[in-house]
Amino acid sequence: MYKVLVSDNISPKGIEILEQEADVTFNPDLSREEFLDIIGEYDGLIVRSMTEVDKEALDKARNLKVIGRAGTGYDNIDIEEASKRGIIVFNTPTGNTISAVEHTIGMMLALSRNIPQANQALHEGIWDRKKYMGVEVKGKTLGIIGLGRIGSRVAVRAQAFGMKVIANDPYLPPEKAAKINVPLLGFKEVLKKSDYITLHTPLTDETYHILSHKEFAIMKDNVRIINCARGKNVDTQALAKALAEHKVAGAAIDVHEVEPLPEDNPLLKYQDRVIMTCHLGGTTTEAMDNVSIAAAEQVLDVLNNGLPESP
Ligand code: MLT
Repeated sequence: MYKVLVSDNISPKGIEILEQEADVTFNPDLSREEFLDIIGEYDGLIVRSMTEVDKEALDKARNLKVIGRAGTGYDNIDIEEASKRGIIVFNTPTGNTISAVEHTIGMMLALSRNIPQANQALHEGIWDRKKYMGVEVKGKTLGIIGLGRIGSRVAVRAQAFGMKVIANDPYLPPEKAAKINVPLLGFKEVLKKSDYITLHTPLTDETYHILSHKEFAIMKDNVRIINCARGKNVDTQALAKALAEHKVAGAAIDVHEVEPLPEDNPLLKYQDRVIMTCHLGGTTTEAMDNVSIAAAEQVLDVLNNGLPESP
């Protein structure tokens, strides 16, 4: 029987599927040392974003044949090193799209209307309608960086709120953007024209700190930033500076440069203008089931047949 390790939290539905054909260890609480100690025993591995599958781990993974990422972003997996060892790596990119889209819209609205701050105040017995006055999104320009699966769906929903949507995506054929009435503009132009900027890019060398000092400097005053993509896409120190200078009016951040969030994260100082969630974009019952089932089925498929079926 093949041995499969699931080292991050996935829904039990995937575990049940795996257990029908494999000897499964589900342990999302392994320390890094424990993970490195046992990874050599396994033929298959399923992770989300918390397990670092780097060269050190792959060096120890002498039996590993397949790594399934239950979710979209696989920046926690060293694909090059895995490929050198003949280990198949796949993600399950469609299962949590809608959840990520809905979280983005939720964050944008919550940011605009100070919902988390007002809720917190009310729980502390403070009734202050003036302090928590918000802004409407209707008529505002939303700049989307990355108009792929998630970005394009955010666009359509934002248009339904009466927002003007523009986007930058160097990889998207303009006809695809035209189909949803979104003009594709240069990166700087999107930064200059937007009242809200939302990121929907993977983390690559090109997108690391795609928003940093230089980019904040050319944005409109009082811009609002939303990041439900990857933490390292935004330079947190630069964002904190832009908040301090009131260049940025507010930010809604689901993903963080360091996760879990360290106590010295500079955005924690801006509780009145920064709302944060703990990487919850893909964390819904539906998305967790979808990605868990897809990852389990594909890991078994690779172990039994060698290559994953195309989705
Ligand atoms: C993803 O990349 O799929 C999301 O960030 C959610 C997750 O980490 O699983």
